[in-house]
Amino acid sequence: MSGLPISRRGFLGAAGAAALTTAVPARHEVHPRFPSPDQPIAISSLNGLRTVAKACELAAQGVRPVTAAIQGVAIVEADPNDISVGYGGLPNEEGVVQLDAACMDGPRHNAGAVACIERVMHPAQVAELVMDRTDHVLLVGEGATRFAHDHGFPDQDLLTPRAREIWLRWRASRSRDDDWLSPLGEETTNADFERLYGTIHCSVLNSDGDLGCCTTTSGLSFKIPGRVGDSPLIGCGLYCDNEVGSAGATGRGEAAILSGGSWLVVERMRAGDTPEEACLYVLRRVADQVQRQQAWQPGLWNEEKKRPAFNLSFYALRKDGLYGSARMLGLPGKPTFTVCDAAGAREEAGAIAFPD
Ligand code: GLY
Repeated sequence: MSGLPISRRGFLGAAGAAALTTAVPARHEVHPRFPSPDQPIAISSLNGLRTVAKACELAAQGVRPVTAAIQGVAIVEADPNDISVGYGGLPNEEGVVQLDAACMDGPRHNAGAVACIERVMHPAQVAELVMDRTDHVLLVGEGATRFAHDHGFPDQDLLTPRAREIWLRWRASRSRDDDWLSPLGEETTNADFERLYGTIHCSVLNSDGDLGCCTTTSGLSFKIPGRVGDSPLIGCGLYCDNEVGSAGATGRGEAAILSGGSWLVVERMRAGDTPEEACLYVLRRVADQVQRQQAWQPGLWNEEKKRPAFNLSFYALRKDGLYGSARMLGLPGKPTFTVCDAAGAREEAGAIAFPD
């Protein structure tokens, strides 16, 4: 390395410099059309087996893909046994369940989202209303909750007895210096609690070649009140371009935000990557970024194994029906996502960026 500053012209090279002076084309280049599949296809995270089945059933009946995805994830939002989404989701550090969700409609290139919404079981449906009934994309906090209640969503306590018990135990484990104690004989430490990111994403393609998607979550367990993850942020926890494909993320939201992950997956597919290649590309990009963060957040990087210390997954569905997924960490060959097509709903194993 010479240490000499590089000029902008030198960095871009002759072609790049020429591009800077070229007039902006009147309209963007038309993407070559992908053929449409014969039947709807839906892809989701591993907790989405019922979701993909429902989404495909609805899309086959003519329901638009974005609504099919939203109705599919509604099953998991209402399930008290999934502690990372909707009703039964783990609360923030004050014991309050705050949900994030977003949806995106390919044909109209429109989106809606809510963040830190409380006391509403189906935030993805509220996101759909934001998309369809307002000129905005994202509503947050009290405004989002009021918007939902104004539109008739029932006011519901989302903290189940199970989630409350987990939260109380987590709180007692935080410090030996505070006044909270674990039940006698069941002392825990902070290390006993893995922070959950959870989440469900679903992308749907119908037989007209139209796309839609949504992502919904209770976010990072025991988060600081007001924390917003990637799920309600367009381009981070989900993205869809009706000319190319749809993508979404689950796992550590901060990494999906800092990489613009779902947008980048779609753009990699536009450039020619298969869905799986696109997901892997973004995970490796995230790993590079984390190495730059480790000086101030060492817990994010596993120095011994030279890889990120957290999990993150991407799911991608191309306009022609090709689908794929990749996860940061895990055992190769084990199921990591769900899909439904003409062969029915099933679990499949995606690629692993840094296999165990
Ligand atoms: N991916 C969900 C979250 O980080 O909130």
